[in-house]
Amino acid sequence: MPKSIIAGIGMYVPENIVTNNDLTKYMDTSDEWIQERTGIKERRYAHRTNETTTTMAVEASKIAIERAGITAQDVDFIVFATLSPDYYFPGCGVLLQRAMKMKEIGALDVRNQCSGFVYALSVADQFIKTGMYKNILVVGAEKHSFGLDFSTRGRNVSVIFGDGAGAVVLQSTEDNNRGILSTHLHSDGESAEILAMYNPGTHANYWANKNYATFNDAEISDMFMSHAMIDNAQNFPFMDGPHVFKKAIVKFPEVIKEALEKNNFSSKDISVLIPHQANLRIAQFVQQKLELKDEQVYNNIQHYGNTTAASVPIALCEAWEKGKIKQGDLVCLAAFGSGFTWASALLKW
Ligand code: COA
Repeated sequence: MPKSIIAGIGMYVPENIVTNNDLTKYMDTSDEWIQERTGIKERRYAHRTNETTTTMAVEASKIAIERAGITAQDVDFIVFATLSPDYYFPGCGVLLQRAMKMKEIGALDVRNQCSGFVYALSVADQFIKTGMYKNILVVGAEKHSFGLDFSTRGRNVSVIFGDGAGAVVLQSTEDNNRGILSTHLHSDGESAEILAMYNPGTHANYWANKNYATFNDAEISDMFMSHAMIDNAQNFPFMDGPHVFKKAIVKFPEVIKEALEKNNFSSKDISVLIPHQANLRIAQFVQQKLELKDEQVYNNIQHYGNTTAASVPIALCEAWEKGKIKQGDLVCLAAFGSGFTWASALLKW
């Protein structure tokens, strides 16, 4: 059976660096609060009109494709993970296909938020294993800065997120000593509303009436998108941070251990763990729980914030570019986020 290797990897982050102090111009926050709670020092924001989620994905994809030694014409399939698409529909996959002048290949969008890239990688891995495709472009990209509430009301969410893109070419190989060993996907929708953007959507308060969502009277509207929703900031993401934190620190170690056990490894065998860059405190907790040394974990949230679906491929790319990942290394990718969904992938580089 063929296996999947990451044959090429690329990343793109916008030029515009936004520091914590820059954010204090818009909201009541401080560099000290943000760094202490999240580890974030700065993030990148895309150009308002000249950059989109897809254009950033194109830049990352060009690098991944070149490093894989193929051309855009050789790509057989696209899997694109994002929660901040250019359009509500169609998805970014087709926009990427168009922008890169690819053949009329399939393009699939994955909507699994912070776990999106690991889910996308797992989907692509199955297509390679069955022999259906040889070169799959797997992308995670986000332009969060366009959809955040920059008033004090939205500060618990807005300070965390940043923009960027990462991409890999997943390629078929007959080499049994390399490639993706296994992927592990999970979800628990019980707390779906804890980290969510409710609108625009077709819920028409159905879930609120079942006590899942907590809208106040002024926010209630049964329309797809109404003026009242906008007036009440219902067009912005909602997050109960402490609830997310508590669940993340349980599920991250669990799904990493699952991947290790499945392949008869233990945490000391990990060469590099790339955790989704949700919060430095979460990553540090996971490191401690799994008794990993500093050099076994790669974090870069300090400079990019949480870039959701882009965070794992950006961190993986940066770690590889810095020479921290070499052929033969055991690399673990792990993510947790809205849904809740969580996932891991274990691979021999
Ligand atoms: N600047 C200053 N104060 C802020 C703030 C900000 N950006 N955001 C929130 N606060 C305030 C709150 O209003 C609250 O004030 P109060 O005590 O007067 O009510 C106080 O800080 C504490 O808020 P709380 O939400 O309890 O803080 P916290 O210690 O849990 O930290 C998070 C908040 C968001 C950093 C933290 O919960 C977290 O990281 N959670 C996980 C989030 C995550 O990983 N999300 C992505 C998932 S993939």
